[in-house]
This record gives sequence, C-alpha cells and structure tokens, in this order.
Amino acid sequence: MQTRPIAPADIPLLAPIFVDVFNAAPWHDGWTLEVAIERLDVLAANPNFRGFAIWEESTPLGFVMGARERWSDGWFFFLREMCVARSRQGEGIGRRLMEATCDELREEGISSINLQTGAAAPAHQFYAKLGFSEMPLITMGRLLNP
Ligand SMILES: CC(C)(COP(=O)(O)OP(=O)(O)OC[C@H]1O[C@@H](n2cnc3c(N)ncnc32)[C@H](O)[C@@H]1OP(=O)(O)O)[C@@H](O)C(=O)NCCC(=O)NCCS
Repeated sequence: MQTRPIAPADIPLLAPIFVDVFNAAPWHDGWTLEVAIERLDVLAANPNFRGFAIWEESTPLGFVMGARERWSDGWFFFLREMCVARSRQGEGIGRRLMEATCDELREEGISSINLQTGAAAPAHQFYAKLGFSEMPLITMGRLLNP
C-alpha cells in the first residue's frame, strides 16, 4: 500500500469510491458519477489544494482532500472529504492514510487539521481515535430559494 498526492488524472478513479460510500447509509446522498467528479475537480482546482490517496498497486482504496488555509498564527488544513472504499473499511487503511497525510502536512509547516463531521456520524469515533477533539463550533446554513 502506498499513499501519494492526488493528481488531477486520479479523480475519475477516486470518484467511484466517493459515490459508493456517500450514496450508502447513513448519507444516501444521491451522487451521480459525473457530479461527484465535478465536486472533486472543484476541490482539486483550489490553488491551495492538498489531497492524498492510498493505493494498492493500481487500485485506489481511499482518499483525503482539502486545502490549506491561512490563519493569524500560521496555516491549517481544512479537510473537506475523506473516505475509504466500503469493502475495505475497518482494516486500518483510514488510520494509515490519515497518518501519512499528517506527516506530509507537518513537513510543509501546516500546524493543524480542522474538519466537520456529524455529531452522530460513524466517522466521529474514527476521528476521535486519531486524536481529533471537538471544537465549540456549529455549522449554519440558509436556503436561498426556500
Ligand atoms: C471513516 C473512515 C474514513 C475510516 O476509515 P477505516 O479504514 O474504515 O478506519 P480504520 O480501519 O483505519 O480505523 C481506525 C480506528 O478507528 C476506528 N473506527 C473506524 N471507523 C469507526 C466507526 N464507524 N465507529 C467506531 N470506530 C471506528 C477503528 O476501530 C480503529 O480503531 P483502532 O485503531 O483502535 O482499532 C471510513 O470508514 C469511511 O470512509 N467511512 C465512510 C465515510 C466517512 O464517514 N467519511 C468521513 C465523513 S466526514
């Protein structure tokens, strides 16, 4: 298994993992492959994009995508998407991918990772096990065409 930075040409290979994961429970998001590729392409077009995928030979097993952001005292990484192929979850791949991502970002001088996840989401426990702690923030949204 090898973790390496995501190149634009990887996105069509990674998007099926994303679709399969987030169209399943508990999300049932309803992604088409085309729209998922659009989302991931847009993330990757950010000039501060950082993304890493974990591969077993030529098969992608999971990925992390986000962007580095400036803060008053340095740079942090805002993690926007993370998933591991459903058939390979629970094997330690997510931990390995996150540790490799942390190593790469640390080397670059990035001092922390922030992310949003549902309080009741399965990933909440995963992130807690990997040393993430809760921040006193909430996400707010407003429909523009209610
Ligand atoms: C969350 C996710 C990335 C974790 O990857 P993974 O490869 O399945 O996780 P690992 O096998 O590396 O697990 C690492 C640790 O987290 C724990 N963990 C993983 N998923 C868990 C869950 N749903 N509930 C409780 N603990 C969990 C494991 O037990 C393991 O603990 P251990 O090291 O003490 O044994 C993956 O399951 C996934 O893609 N889930 C669906 C998508 C998702 O939730 N993405 C994040 C949205 S914000």
